[in-house]
Amino acid sequence: MNSTPFADVDLDVRYRAARRIAEQAAQQGLAFYRQRDSLAIEHKGDNRQDVVSIADRTLEDFIRAELAAAFPEDGFLGEESGSADLGARCVWVIDPIDGTACFVNGLHSWCVSIGLMVDGQPALGVIADPNHDELFHGCRGRGAFVNDRPLAAHNARHVRDGVMGVGTFHEPGKQHFIPFLEQLLDAGGMFIRNGSGALMTAYVAAGRLIAYHETHLKSWDCLAGVVMVLEAGGRMNDFFRDDGLLHGNPYLVAAPGVYEQIAGMIGPWLDSPAGTR
Ligand code: IPD
Ligand code: CA
Ligand code: CA
Repeated sequence: MNSTPFADVDLDVRYRAARRIAEQAAQQGLAFYRQRDSLAIEHKGDNRQDVVSIADRTLEDFIRAELAAAFPEDGFLGEESGSADLGARCVWVIDPIDGTACFVNGLHSWCVSIGLMVDGQPALGVIADPNHDELFHGCRGRGAFVNDRPLAAHNARHVRDGVMGVGTFHEPGKQHFIPFLEQLLDAGGMFIRNGSGALMTAYVAAGRLIAYHETHLKSWDCLAGVVMVLEAGGRMNDFFRDDGLLHGNPYLVAAPGVYEQIAGMIGPWLDSPAGTR
């Protein structure tokens, strides 16, 4: 009997393809980034902080076309172009540029994120960060790596033992975010926000951050990294409940020794049913 998860799905070929496509998309992103002063920046809806440019759309079109050509039977969910065939066994979940606000402002923390769900479970993920020559990748049952180096979650036992990532959006974030920060600081913890949920998730897998909490995140921001966190021995909250794939949820990934402490600081909001929020 083969105990590898998703044994009857060809994960190897998808894993290889995801790494190739993410690296190629990241190089395209880098070319746009170097000419960012000439990009027209648009705002999504009324939120002046929610930005997008031709770079996001071009990269998503490229990734979507490559995946469709290689795996026509697979479903797709992307931040910029929406979804198709979500009932398929394999569903690709991608964010062409995570950290767009950083990208357009010349800050180096942005990346290309490609994740795969199989039968509703995170199965593989690739995060390409071309500014730092880092390709984070992982596949269930096969480990997680940055380039060729294996990843392992931090051995922290208390929030004092390291730095965690945080993030929020104005609503509904603020009312939950400020009380959480207060508790974290009271306990001697410390935080960063680098503007890319995907990279902060990968950094938890890499043991660079002890945890990452965002008051509400979308699946394309985190799915790829979640696979790496789980393979690296970290923990995640019940993020994919209640249609989390489509609508997102409150989010926590953490080293095992600090997960409960941080979940306690966030409180019931973390795993609250979507209908009660
Ligand atoms: C954003 C980043 C950011 C997080 C936001 C996301 P985008 O994604 O992941 O870190 O705080 O919630 O929307 O817009 O740069 O793709
Ligand atoms: Ca994103
Ligand atoms: Ca994005």
